[in-house]
Amino acid sequence: MSRIIKLPEPDTKGTMPLEKAIAQRRSCRDYLAEALTQEEMGQLCWAAQGKAPSTSSGQAGRFRTVPSAGATYPLEVFVALGEGLFHYLPNEHYLEELTAEDIRGKIAAAAWGQEFIAEAAATFIMAAEFERTTGRYGQRGIRYVFMEAGHAAQNIHLEAEAMGLGSVAVGAFNDTAVSKVLKLPTNLEPVYMVVAGRYKR
Ligand SMILES: Cc1cc2nc3c(=O)[nH]c(=O)nc-3n(C[C@H](O)[C@H](O)[C@H](O)COP(=O)(O)O)c2cc1C
Repeated sequence: MSRIIKLPEPDTKGTMPLEKAIAQRRSCRDYLAEALTQEEMGQLCWAAQGKAPSTSSGQAGRFRTVPSAGATYPLEVFVALGEGLFHYLPNEHYLEELTAEDIRGKIAAAAWGQEFIAEAAATFIMAAEFERTTGRYGQRGIRYVFMEAGHAAQNIHLEAEAMGLGSVAVGAFNDTAVSKVLKLPTNLEPVYMVVAGRYKR
């Protein structure tokens, strides 16, 4: 059986005003080689794709922290940490280990040698099953998937900022190489990455 990391329940109150996080966010490419806490991982995963705790629509449990065209939810979030590669499961709010190998260096190589990926604590890889969205919206669904990845990425950036962590978007990577490094099943394609970790001050 694969290893599971049960993440702490997300803090939905926070301490930093949203406007301050928006105003302060800046891309960070200089990280300390220091792991994030489970609380920090829990917040970032939740921001990326977690369940919305309650909704006014009376359908609590169905929706997530990020909008999705037709609530088709095409994204799967993977996280590369020093202790291995994990898949985030929004319903359970836990990380399932796929390998205990530290593949951050391989992801850096697949991203044209962007070495900060190998140093930062966490890289969030958003992979999509396009069919979930194109099945409903046809070709237009393709752009919806990319738009959604942008929503998820911005949530990670702002949550990182609110916790005093650095982050940067990474769109420059070789799709085939990333798929190979993550051993993604053929129904999933990597669409976007966000690197997060502690700033080097
Ligand atoms: C779609 C997209 C792809 C990006 N890809 C990369 C990347 O591969 N590597 C990188 O270092 N920064 C990447 N960035 C970050 C931009 O370089 C950065 O946002 C921009 O320079 C503005 O700086 P700021 O984020 O500090 O406001 C990307 C940003 C976006 C929106």
